Amino acid sequence: MNKGQLLYEGKAKRLYATEDEQILFVEYKDSATAFNGEKKAEIDGKGNLNNKITTLIFEKLQAAGIASHFVKQLSPNEQLVRRVDIIPIEVVVRNIAAGSLSKRLGFDEGTALPRPIVEYYYKDDALGDPHITTEHIDVLGIATATEVEELYKQGLAVNDILRPLFAEVGVELIDFKLEFGRDGAGNVLLADEISPDTCRLWDATTGQKLDKDVFRRDLGNLTEVYEIILEKLGGK
Ligand code: C5P
Repeated sequence: MNKGQLLYEGKAKRLYATEDEQILFVEYKDSATAFNGEKKAEIDGKGNLNNKITTLIFEKLQAAGIASHFVKQLSPNEQLVRRVDIIPIEVVVRNIAAGSLSKRLGFDEGTALPRPIVEYYYKDDALGDPHITTEHIDVLGIATATEVEELYKQGLAVNDILRPLFAEVGVELIDFKLEFGRDGAGNVLLADEISPDTCRLWDATTGQKLDKDVFRRDLGNLTEVYEIILEKLGGK
């Protein structure tokens, strides 16, 4: 499979066409960004780490019955995925209060929620990815009620698989963000990446942050903690 025309460049990845209409080539970049692109850095090795971690997680999800766009890893920083039209909704699942939820509702970071919750954010850089409700999704016309139900169900199903998977290796899955797309037949398919860029992961014993908050909050060396996650997932 060959890398064709560049179709899209995002903050962390580039997407290329291939000779197969249905398959895209993804290249993970070494760029780290936070706060809607206000904070930026190039971090050697980050692309490889996220490519490998995403590969391991999508493989584990597929083995557990969650379909996704993931096809296979090709090289340290490249993978093949199925072509989908991304639904402009970030689906965030939370087990423990942190980040914007703590700010918004006043829960101390680290407070266990009585049950996992699912939130939606409108994927729009110019608007700063605002929190939205199902009513907003309806009037924006960005997903049908049936699709939103699917996002909700799949979000919780992914949590039910990933939370114990991380717990087994001594890591608490605090929260994470998922993206979904529509395939050619209109099916909603899990897409994008799942990595320490898109999850909050805390060492269950020490509470050490093993995710992008290390970069957002200047807490240390990002690649060191991403390597810890890769190793714990059996990837090293
Ligand atoms: O910032 P907030 O607390 O809402 O983030 C919730 C979760 O979603 C975190 O794991 C964060 O890394 C992830 N997220 C993301 N991309 C965004 C916003 C949040 O991966 N644009």
